[in-house]
Amino acid sequence: MQRILTIIGARPQFIKASVVSRAIQQADGIEEILLHTGQHFDTNMSEVFFDQLGIPRPDIQLDIHGGSHGEMTGLMLAEIEQSILTHKPDRVLVYGDTNSTLAGALAAAKLHVPVAHVEAGLRSFNMRMPEEVNRILTDQVSDLLFCPTETAVKNLEAEGFAQKPVKVMQVGDVMQDAALLFAKRSVPPVGGNLPDRFILATLHRAENTDDAERLTNIVQALNQIHQEKAPVVLPLHPRTRKLIAQQGLSLNVHLIDPVGYFEMLWLLDHCDLVLTDSGGVQKEAFFFGKPCVTMRDQTEWVELVEAGANQLVGACKNKILDSAKHHYGRIVEDAHALYGGGAASSRIVKKIIEFS
Ligand code: UD1
Ligand code: UDP
Repeated sequence: MQRILTIIGARPQFIKASVVSRAIQQADGIEEILLHTGQHFDTNMSEVFFDQLGIPRPDIQLDIHGGSHGEMTGLMLAEIEQSILTHKPDRVLVYGDTNSTLAGALAAAKLHVPVAHVEAGLRSFNMRMPEEVNRILTDQVSDLLFCPTETAVKNLEAEGFAQKPVKVMQVGDVMQDAALLFAKRSVPPVGGNLPDRFILATLHRAENTDDAERLTNIVQALNQIHQEKAPVVLPLHPRTRKLIAQQGLSLNVHLIDPVGYFEMLWLLDHCDLVLTDSGGVQKEAFFFGKPCVTMRDQTEWVELVEAGANQLVGACKNKILDSAKHHYGRIVEDAHALYGGGAASSRIVKKIIEFS
């Protein structure tokens, strides 16, 4: 029996792990131990996903959140190391590019436990992003690199991975598996009193929230779009809530608390446009045939920009306004083939078993 230790901690990782955990449960010869670092901890940033998506309760629950990047990652590293020593997994499985991802990968590598990385090979080529540092270092210590896209495979080839004794595999995107699996469970947010037609926005990237000028531009653009074009519904990430208050800004749109995944799927299905700086939400807009305006200077999901489904506008107020007006209500052709068609998680589990 191969024993996998899965490390999760942040909202998108719960969604990604939900479909892979299911595939592990359905397979023979493999068992999973789940470790939650505690990075996200509010009920609607963590527990709601376990409840909705049927993720097993974590076997190991750390309580590490807040603090600086070094402090958070360091505390996680020490605790995850202990868990690896106690549970003796054959492999550690990590997702994406958060501090929890890097801590899990590093702890395993130092103990010579092989690491599988889901979402390997994504790059923004912006080393000022904490996520770029996390994903590059995680890829460096992984031996099974599960790439969601062809671009991700090419990025790794360009970094010399073809010459290394590791496996780089294009398997598709587990977030598409989740969207397809759970789409029929979508429900409107309770008590949201939502307008009939609306733009769905999300905002949480450090590069936007932690830069006063960028945050001000974005807030002004969202306020103006809400006033002049269509209501903007924004489930507000706790990070953004804090920083908007700190900067003394007023975000005058239809604000709601962060929602569960089923509510988010409903919002994606019913909106006329997505305005976001999230990685996951860019793709989900596409899965639901909605145009996406991305408030970032780069994206890891370049194929969406190439397909005309996504426009990058940075944090420039006029660009956000123009792009929102231009794309509002447009229908985007879905091309499931770009992201693996919903079979990424079963491919991943098959490969983990094959390379045990
Ligand atoms: C993290 C990831 C980011 C990912 C995002 C998903 C890193 C470096 N960043 O960013 O890549 O896109 O998660 O949402 O790992 N907070 C709460 N309650 C919560 C969660 C967070 O109040 O449940 C607060 C924290 O106390 C902290 C702030 O929000 O002050 C930021 O949280 P943190 O996990 O450090 O980073 P995210 O911005 O969530
Ligand atoms: N999401 C959610 N509720 C929300 C906002 C986002 O369920 O209120 C989901 C979203 O649909 C996507 C994932 O969380 O599946 C994206 O997470 P986030 O934007 O926090 O992180 P990123 O993808 O940028 O790392």
